[in-house]
This record gives sequence, C-alpha cells and structure tokens, in this order.
Amino acid sequence: MKLLTVAVLSLYLDHAVFAQSELSISSFEVKFTEDSGVLRSLRPSTGPSFDFSPSDVFQYRNEAGQYHTGDLTFHYRTTGSSQWQYGDTAACRKKCPIASHSSADAITSNLNEGLPHLESSSLNVTRSWSGQAGDLALSFTIENNGDEAIELGSLGMPIEFNNIFTNRSATEATEKCVFVDPYIGLDAGFLQVTRLTGTGPSLVITPLNDASKFEAWQFLEEPEDVPLGYRIQTYEGNYAYQVHTSALAETQWRDAEPWNPPTSAVLEAGESLTVGLRFSVASGVQQIEDKVAEHVPVAVGTPGYVVPQDLTAKLFLKSRSDISSINVYPKHALSVAGCGTYDNSWKGFDVTASLKAFGRVRLDIVYEDGTHQAVHYWIAHSSPKAVSELGSFLTHEQWYTNTSDPFGRAPSVITYNRTADDYVLQDNRTWIAGLSDEGGAGSFLAAGMKQAIAPNAPEVAKLEQMVEQVVWGRLQISSGNETYAVRKSLFYYQPELVPNYEYDPYFNWTINPGESWDKEAAYLIDRTYDYVHVSALYWGLYRAGRTNPDILSRHSKEWYLSQAYNTVRYSVSNTSDGTPRTGYWDVGLMGETVWGLLLADLYAENYPEEAAHMEHLMQARQALWAGQADPFGSEMAWDSTGEEGVYYWSRYFNDSATADKSVNAIRGYMPTIPHWGWNGNARRYWDFLYAGSIDLARIERQIHHYGSGLNALPMLDNYRRHADPQSLDAIYDLRIGYGGNQGPLTNIDEDGFGSMAFHSYPDTLIWDAYSGDYGPNFLGHVLGAATYLVDHPTFGWVSFGGNVKVSEDGLMVRCEPRDAVRRRIFVAAISLWVEIDAGTIEYFTLDAKTQQVKISVSGESTQRTVMVWEQTGGDAKGPKMKPATKDLKQRTNGYELTLPTTVSFTAE
Ligand SMILES: *[C@@H]1O[C@H](CO)[C@@H](O)[C@H](O)[C@H]1NC(C)=O
Ligand SMILES: *[C@@H]1O[C@H](CO)[C@@H](O)[C@H](O)[C@H]1NC(C)=O
Ligand SMILES: *[C@@H]1O[C@H](CO)[C@@H](O)[C@H](O)[C@H]1NC(C)=O
Ligand SMILES: *[C@@H]1O[C@H](CO)[C@@H](O)[C@H](O)[C@H]1NC(C)=O
Ligand SMILES: *[C@@H]1O[C@H](CO)[C@@H](O)[C@H](O)[C@H]1NC(C)=O
Ligand SMILES: *[C@@H]1O[C@H](CO)[C@@H](O)[C@H](O)[C@H]1NC(C)=O
Ligand SMILES: *[C@@H]1O[C@H](CO)[C@@H](O)[C@H](O)[C@H]1NC(C)=O
Ligand SMILES: *[C@@H]1O[C@H](CO)[C@@H](O)[C@H](O)[C@H]1NC(C)=O
Repeated sequence: MKLLTVAVLSLYLDHAVFAQSELSISSFEVKFTEDSGVLRSLRPSTGPSFDFSPSDVFQYRNEAGQYHTGDLTFHYRTTGSSQWQYGDTAACRKKCPIASHSSADAITSNLNEGLPHLESSSLNVTRSWSGQAGDLALSFTIENNGDEAIELGSLGMPIEFNNIFTNRSATEATEKCVFVDPYIGLDAGFLQVTRLTGTGPSLVITPLNDASKFEAWQFLEEPEDVPLGYRIQTYEGNYAYQVHTSALAETQWRDAEPWNPPTSAVLEAGESLTVGLRFSVASGVQQIEDKVAEHVPVAVGTPGYVVPQDLTAKLFLKSRSDISSINVYPKHALSVAGCGTYDNSWKGFDVTASLKAFGRVRLDIVYEDGTHQAVHYWIAHSSPKAVSELGSFLTHEQWYTNTSDPFGRAPSVITYNRTADDYVLQDNRTWIAGLSDEGGAGSFLAAGMKQAIAPNAPEVAKLEQMVEQVVWGRLQISSGNETYAVRKSLFYYQPELVPNYEYDPYFNWTINPGESWDKEAAYLIDRTYDYVHVSALYWGLYRAGRTNPDILSRHSKEWYLSQAYNTVRYSVSNTSDGTPRTGYWDVGLMGETVWGLLLADLYAENYPEEAAHMEHLMQARQALWAGQADPFGSEMAWDSTGEEGVYYWSRYFNDSATADKSVNAIRGYMPTIPHWGWNGNARRYWDFLYAGSIDLARIERQIHHYGSGLNALPMLDNYRRHADPQSLDAIYDLRIGYGGNQGPLTNIDEDGFGSMAFHSYPDTLIWDAYSGDYGPNFLGHVLGAATYLVDHPTFGWVSFGGNVKVSEDGLMVRCEPRDAVRRRIFVAAISLWVEIDAGTIEYFTLDAKTQQVKISVSGESTQRTVMVWEQTGGDAKGPKMKPATKDLKQRTNGYELTLPTTVSFTAE
C-alpha cells in the first residue's frame, strides 16, 4: 500500500516539478526531490546553466542523515517536562517518503510522514514552497493540536548549497561551486551564497517573516564515511539557520557564550507557528546588501566592526521601521551616538569603545515594529598598543632559552599554549614545536614583522641572537651546496636519536605514520612556504636597522638584506640541471608580499644585479600563472592562500587579467557582514588540524585565521587602483579589505598573546590556545595597515582607519590615523597614496576645494624618514599632484624628510 502511494506520488510530483512555472518564480528554475520534497536544484533565471545546489552529486547525498535545504530540525517538550524530544526530517529519508501536493502557487507537504516518532505528540508540521514576488519562499508551520502547551527549544532550517569540491578539478570547482556565509543578526540576519569565481549572481537568503530571526548558525553532523566525504578539506559540510536555540544552549552548547541570547517559542493548545526563508538573487557580490535591504534592515560599519580604543567607528542603519532603542551588551562597553541622517534613509552613529572594555560586544538595535538586529563588535586595544604588547609577549613569555634542548631550538621565539601558559616544546605535529611550517614559525615571523614597523632594541637584540644561534646554521643550512636551504622542522620524533629525551605520552606519536616526522623528514628542505618566514625575519631586522641605525649589534643591515635575498633566491631558483630546488616554488606563497618589499629595498640600497635576478625569478613564476585557468594552487585541493602572491606579481608584471582574476576569487570567499568575526574573514577551515591546539584539532570554520590579513593585501592594493575609488563598487573592496586587515587585531588578547584563530562552532566560540600560525596574519596586518580617507557617495567623509573631522563650512577635512603603523595614507578624492618609512603621521588635512593635502609628520626616535608617493587611480581622478615642501631631498628610494615636518601636496 505504502509503495503504491509512493509510485503514484512520484508521478504526481513529476507533474508538480514539471509545473514549476505555475509557482511563478521568475528569479529561478527550481527542482525538488520526488520522495522528500527538499530542494534539489536552484538555478538563477538570468544564467540557468549555473546551479547553486549540488544536484550533480545528489545521488550520493540522499541517505538518512544527509541534510538538504527544505529539511527541518527541532527540539520540543510539553511545558513542565524537562526532557527535550528531537525531530529531524533528514533522519529517516527513504524509509519514510513525504508526499507533496501542488497547487497553482505552492507545493505543500505534511512532514509528519518523515518524522515517525512525532506520532506520539500533538505536533503537526507542514512545509510549503511557493513564489513570492519572483523569489522563492520556504515556510514551515508547526501546529499544536493537543491540549497542553508545547515549547520549541530549537528550530533549525538546514542549508545545503554546492560547496562540495570532492572529485572536482580546481577549474571545475571554480565553475560549479559556491560558498555560504552567515550574518547571525536576528531579524536582520541573512545568508549569502557566492560563487567561487567571485562574479555572477549571488543568492541572498533572508527571514521570511518576523518569527524567523537568525539566532545561531549550527554545524550539522552527517555520516562521514560516504563517497563524497564530509567535514573534510574538499567538503567543509553544511549548517543550519537556527531560529530558536534554548534547548541547545542548555545542553550541547552549555559551555559557550552564544552570539545571541537563546530563545524558545511556546505553542499553546491549538496555536501554530510559521517560520521560513526567502531566496532572492543579487546580480553580484556588490549588490547583496541592496537586495537584503528590500526585505530587512541593513547595517554598514566603517571601518568595520573592530573598534580599537582610540578610534571612533561609524555605523549606518537603513530600515523601513524607525529605530526605537539601541542597547549594548555588556552594558557601557560601547557608546553609540547619533551623527546624522543620510539620503533620507540611513541613520548614522558614532561608535566608541570604553577603555574598560575588551573583546566581544553586541549591539541590540530595536526597531519600532518590534524587530531586533544584532551587530557584533570587537573592542581591541589601540593598534600600536596591541602591537607593542604582542612584541613583548613574543620576546618574553614565548622566549625559549634552554640551550640544553637536544633539538637546538634555543634561544628562540617558540609556539605557546595559552591555556597552560607555557611553551609548546612537544607536539606529534612535529613542525608546531619545530620552528617551521606556518604552525611552528608563526611566532618568530610575527616577532620579526613587528620589528619592521616598531623596532624595540631589546626585542631586536633577542631576534639577532636567535638568528645567530638557531636560524643560521640550524633551521637554515649555512654551508655547502645547500647553503640558504630552510628545514621543515628542528623538532622530530625519533627516540633512538635522543635517548635521554622523554617524548610526552599525551600524544600518540605513531597513530598517523609519517606525520610525526623523524629527523630525515623534519630536515627536508623542499617546502617553499618555509622560506617566506625566514626571509621575513631577516627583512624585519634589515628594516629595523635602516630606520634605527644604532639598533643592530651583531650584523649590519646589509647582511640581513643579503640573507633575505639569498633565502628567496634559493627557494625559487633551479639547480644547474634545471630542477626546481623546492616543491612549491610555482604557487602563490603566504606572506610573499614581503618579497615585493624586499625587491624594492634591493633597488633602494643599490643592489641592481640582485634585484634584477630576483625579478627574473619572480617573472618565471608569474609566467606560469598567466597561462593557467586556475592559478591558485597550494598543498590543498582548494585554498585561499595563493591569491595574494599571484596578485602581487601579476600586478608587478602588468598582467591585469590574472590580477583581476585573483581579486575576483577573493571577492567570492571574503564577505562584508556586520559581525567582527565574519567581516573580511577569508574562508579557512582546516588549519586547526595543522597549527591549532590538539584538544580542538578539527575541521571547523575559522574566524580570522591568516586568510584575513593576507587576502586583505591584494584587495586594498586593488582598491587604490580603481578609476574611481569613491564609487560604491570600489568602496565594497575597501570594506572587505579593511575588514580582513582588522581581523588580526582581534587575535591579540589583552596581555599581548596572539592566537592562531577563533573557533566558530556554537558549542565552542573561543580563541584557540595555540599561537600556531598567527604570524602570517600579523604580517598581513602590518603590511596592510594604512588610513583611508573617502568621500562616500551616501555617508560623506568617512575614514577607514582614522578619526575624521570636517570644518563647519565642509571644506576642510582633517584625519588622524589610528591604524597600527600610521605611516601610510590614501586620499581617495585624488587617488593619492603617501608612505613614509619611519616617524608617525599625526594627522593630515584635505582642502576639499583646492585638493591641497597637508601631512604632519613627527619623529620620536628618528629625525629622518623617506617618503614615497603615487597617484594610483590613473587619469580619471582629480588633478595631478606634486609635493610642495621646500626642503625635500631626492634619494634613490624617495624623498628624505627631516622630522618633525609638514609636507604639502598641491595640484600641478
Ligand atoms: C496538519 O496540517 C495540515 C495543513 O495545515 C492539515 O491539512 C491537516 O489536517 C493537519 N493534520 C492534523 C492531524 O491535524
Ligand atoms: C571520485 O573519483 C573516483 C576516480 O575517478 C571514482 O572512482 C569515484 O567513484 C568518484 N566518487 C564520486 C563520489 O564521484
Ligand atoms: C632543559 O632541557 C633539558 C633537555 O630536554 C632538560 O633535561 C632540562 O630539564 C631543561 N631545563 C629546564 C630548566 O627546563
Ligand atoms: C595546553 O594546556 C592545557 C592546560 O594545561 C592542556 O589541557 C592542554 O592539553 C595543552 N595542550 C597541549 C597540546 O599540550
Ligand atoms: C648537494 O650535495 C649532496 C651531496 O653530494 C647531494 O646529495 C645533494 O643533492 C646536493 N644538493 C643540491 C641542491 O645540489
Ligand atoms: C596526536 O596524538 C593524538 C592523541 O593524543 C591523536 O588523537 C592524533 O591523531 C595524533 N596526531 C597526529 C598528527 O599524529
Ligand atoms: C597509537 O595509535 C596506534 C594506531 O592506531 C595504536 O596502535 C596505539 O596503541 C596508539 N598508542 C597509544 C599510546 O594510544
Ligand atoms: C625552473 O624550472 C622550471 C621547470 O621545471 C621552469 O618552469 C622555470 O621557468 C625555471 N625557472 C627559471 C627561473 O628559469
């Protein structure tokens, strides 16, 4: 009987599927599955060859426990009982098919058929798919047919789109796959689904009604031993949009502090609740907010949602209903003061941090129609203070001095476990304790980059000591035919070689053969990535010596420059028989923007032959990328690491097609969202396995892992080259780039410890205990640090990174940099980029009428600085400018200034 029903129904459903146009969904071509009515395929009408859903591998995803869009999960109990019951439409699947009924404008299903244990409850659950003004609407109605009240303690709508890279080539994944990013913002929450290409239509998912707030984003457990894999490098997995979470908060999520207060819903006898989602199309990533604004309130923060204590950030809100109140949690952590109305539709606010507050803060914006919007902020110490605290932490708490160490790791800045407040001297992922790979080199890399921008004599002295005793001759080979080669780890697992050394039994050293490296594996010199860390350490010391001539005591600045150059040269050159010396010379490397600066310094210090050779080596790599459909290879099947280097050298060698492809790819995986954790958070989800604490070593979406700081570099550089950097499309890039740049500031805790990333699973929500691979993120932070002044088409004068004041007549704009370095400014109105290598830009002014710019520069420990400047936007923007200060001395690498001074730029 059951079987017959199914057969009849599938015919019926074929008709329903065939009859999609009857739902009048003009934005999509949509297909549902026959036996459960979940979403199978969702193609935008504007380009129906593309499918947001993984319909081509659906056959591998139709088993019990595999979630699709259109499923529902929920906890419920009769009020008064303490035990939660659980309903899950994916649990049964083929054994309990769900019938669907189509009418002219909807396809409805009673889900009780797919929820067999519900039979004993009085809940009646129905689902409906329908058209809504051209969009697709999904709704669930839960009705209480009994005579006792029922509490719904969780209500999750699983979301499945095609983020499955398994078995796809890089080119195919780029063509077919998408990323999903959440704004966990209650009634104003949304999801965005963007293509890996970063171009073309994006999918926007908003709450269907006032009962459908976005309270939490829950990772969904699924069977993992399946053909496509699950929660693996090529398939991160799926999440659910949670409307209520109190049952989860009481149980699985007990130990975490949630993003939003957990709620439940009570259904009195006879009552019902309808929740749902609306699926719309935005024509590109830059149009996502406009689409969201058609349905729910929108928030735009400048420079983002990270507020250093000396910065006034701005928040702009647009909504149909007026704002009735704004509450701050914890109380008084932020102050929010109205600063104007824009375009008759946006309300602006100044947002400043209390000096007593630090870390997570939630703004609860209440609208007059009763809806709530949550904007999630992070309060940090002022950036220079955070940088100085980090430098101190790295060179004190993380300074390892035991020279009896059998692996020769002392003295060094070594990996740290913040929970134990101790060094990580052992780990079965040997590199983490071995001063190499990002996971083990991250800490000395951060310490070296810190000296490049804010040299401190005792810190420099320690790093010079580390170079002399641990790097040169141990981590790096210093004689013979492999001089300058960098090893993969100084620490290794080989008990017979260190008979008196006790390996910690806490780790299983033999569980993954080959992963706990023996000496031979640890001493391999083929991992090109590792050369970036060592060259950056040398370069940081070179820069410290250049700007503070007395600070180096063991070697000259030229020696460090030469070491940096030779390390790079070794890593990307070929042996005399034409074989590459290392294994990843042909992909973009994390942090290699520093190599671009090194190249400029070789020219500046008058090493033209070395510079030319380095250019030749880089050009050989860029030539490969120019010919590749997908030039973003790495050690992983898909990655967000190669784009930075590919962009840098493609720009350098004037290959704008490849440079543009790189920034498009980044736009796909780096969103702007009113939440400090997701704004500019470039997708990373597996490095907790390779660089994080063993206790939480798992595949998990990472918040502000190094993708943020690094991918910000090309986004910001590309932003400055826009023909009109004050257009909304250009400012979109500035927003994601600046968000990425601010990310690494959040990793630094109140005492200066830098964590490798934040755990985003709602049962965790803490910073990882390991310093791990924070170094590349910090590298991105300091190389990208700058203050941008923009006349926004809607909001007027705003700064990304500075505090702005406009004179009463509106003609004089004054901006005080509040970024980490305070030596780089960009004036968007005239595409003017100015950079100094020492001293501090205290403030700059722009005369909006004459375009004259005046820059006030102070020097503390230095009387001299070198200034370089450029008008980056081509001819389109403003007059040609020239520096007008009298006492400029031209040097090979720019103009020398004597500090303190004021430099003016006037129209030619
Ligand atoms: C469940 O709800 C559906 C749709 O509202 C209704 O047609 C059906 O009669 C209900 N079933 C029960 C058992 O109440
Ligand atoms: C993945 O590819 C391999 C090799 O081509 C093939 O044997 C396997 O069936 C594929 N798996 C899936 C799930 O497509
Ligand atoms: C230094 O390292 C050696 C070798 O591992 C060890 O025996 C000794 O206890 C360490 N000393 C300190 C002070 O930790
Ligand atoms: C880090 O320290 C904590 C607290 O002592 C400990 O529980 C944890 O196991 C440590 N991690 C490692 C990998 O040693
Ligand atoms: C260096 O010399 C050793 C010993 O002859 C040889 O095994 C190794 O391959 C050489 N390395 C390079 C990079 O030429
Ligand atoms: C390290 O040891 C832990 C057990 O302590 C084990 O779970 C893990 O798989 C091991 N990892 C590696 C890379 O060997
Ligand atoms: C380590 O893992 C291996 C392989 O699974 C297992 O045989 C061994 O018993 C484990 N050792 C410890 C100490 O748990
Ligand atoms: C090194 O060799 C590779 C081929 O293996 C080649 O593609 C590359 O251009 C060579 N590099 C240089 C700098 O000649």
